[in-house]
Amino acid sequence: MVEVKLENIVKTFGETVALKGISIHIEHGELFTLLGPSGCGKSTTLRIIAGLDYPDSGTIHFGDEEVTYLPSHQRGAVLVFQNYALWPHMTVFDNIAYGLKIKKIPKDEIRRKVEWALELVRLKGFEDRYPTQLSGGQQQRVAIARALVVEPKVLLLDEPLSNLDAKLRLEMRSEIRRIQRELGITVIYVTHDQEEAMAISDRIAVMNVGTVEQVGTPKEIYETPRTEFVASFMGKTNVIPAKVVEREGDKVTVEFESFRLDGLTYTGEKDDVVLVIRPERIRLKPEENTVSLEGTVDLVEYYGFFVEVIGLFGDTRMIARTISDREAGNLKPTQPVTFYINRDDIIVLPKQQL
Ligand SMILES: Nc1ncnc2c1ncn2[C@@H]1O[C@H](COP(=O)(O)OP(=O)(O)OP(=O)(O)O)[C@@H](O)[C@H]1O
Ligand SMILES: [Mg+2]
Repeated sequence: MVEVKLENIVKTFGETVALKGISIHIEHGELFTLLGPSGCGKSTTLRIIAGLDYPDSGTIHFGDEEVTYLPSHQRGAVLVFQNYALWPHMTVFDNIAYGLKIKKIPKDEIRRKVEWALELVRLKGFEDRYPTQLSGGQQQRVAIARALVVEPKVLLLDEPLSNLDAKLRLEMRSEIRRIQRELGITVIYVTHDQEEAMAISDRIAVMNVGTVEQVGTPKEIYETPRTEFVASFMGKTNVIPAKVVEREGDKVTVEFESFRLDGLTYTGEKDDVVLVIRPERIRLKPEENTVSLEGTVDLVEYYGFFVEVIGLFGDTRMIARTISDREAGNLKPTQPVTFYINRDDIIVLPKQQL
């Protein structure tokens, strides 16, 4: 269990600047996720933490020890890859025992440790099987057991669930969480799936082309995104370009299409902004402190326990998600509809070049 500190890490590959000076502090025993779209630098960051690659500049500390240029096998961070990389000609037992055997650990101690790891991932009794005789989820468990058996200070998981079907993915992500809690180990997890990140993490770093845009708990990232990129990356959301036309203290009036919304909170400098509104915060009935938008129904999508009403406001489409069937159930396309939004639920952020 160890704290991991990255300071100003820069990494280039030829012309490509993969990491533009990122700083991240990961606490003891935390499940910390790097989240971002393909190519943003997640795997590069993990490889640098693991010591499989070195940065051009910047430092990495594990606790008080600087490990920036320490070889991989000396730093106690183990990386589990997306494709598990099990040895096909070795049994489950031998796959897990491999890292201990090369350390010349006595035989009965190896057996004890392998049994412990197998129990941890709930695969007791599978010792003699070969990887081809296992399901995808079981192979993933073996890969995790193989990483844990050497008792790493930090476990690094690079998209560990992306080869599994949807149901197994849900199961394995709770398993990873359980194991992490049981061992109290520091885990750095990589995914491009925002829902997975939200479900599994203590904290998340949202990455965008080689930079970290925001670090926070799932709740902070979802409810108070600091940039347009973070807001739009975290699930289905309404992001509406607008212009600030009046300011008074930290309150502004904005315009989009023919609508004018007052009393919104914004302290940024730019007048070109976006309004970020989560679909589940939009109401179909007025409440206190709400602004109202009059438009027409474009589409109603029924999802069972909730209904999505897609409204057209001029050329702007907005999604409202509502649990109450009574509110939304009878709406039909082309009918007039009014969306009500609490002013506190409209996040105003500077427009970003995405
Ligand atoms: N060995 C390499 N040689 C050249 N370019 C590389 C190398 N490794 C990574 N890159 C580049 O660095 C950038 C970051 O890559 P990285 O693999 O870290 O992204 P990622 O966030 O893990 O993406 P994905 O979600 O697709 O796995 C990309 O532009 C990639 O093309
Ligand atoms: Mg990757």
